[in-house]
Amino acid sequence: MTDTLFRWDDSFLIGIAELDHEHKVLIDDINMLNEELAGSDERSEVTKCLGDIYARMQAHFALEEHFMKEHEYQFFDEHKREHSELLEDYTECMMRFLNGASISSKNPIEECLTQWVVDHITTSDKKMSLIVQE
Ligand SMILES: [Fe+2]
Ligand SMILES: [Fe+2]
Repeated sequence: MTDTLFRWDDSFLIGIAELDHEHKVLIDDINMLNEELAGSDERSEVTKCLGDIYARMQAHFALEEHFMKEHEYQFFDEHKREHSELLEDYTECMMRFLNGASISSKNPIEECLTQWVVDHITTSDKKMSLIVQE
């Protein structure tokens, strides 16, 4: 069963190739997690997906923050704070699951990731891209 949360489309593009590539890979990972949540009772598979997404988010934020520093982005602090909050929220959802929350408690995880993908990429990342490329 496939229950795709997001389909990659051009509205996610921010116009910086290396960051767009990472966003796309992240969305693929999130879709994989969603499929595991929808179609599998295997906690170990879900746990692996959650860990992979965490590692990828962390690496992505580090790359993006490096990029912003390099371009002396004026809203760096604000953007970095958003990354930290997203990582905290995600960690909290992940820990709840790892500490035994039922597999059907997927909604907080999906909500957290939706917020990240939809809100952060399409607003904060896009704004940053527009400003640094002015
Ligand atoms: Fe960002
Ligand atoms: Fe990003």
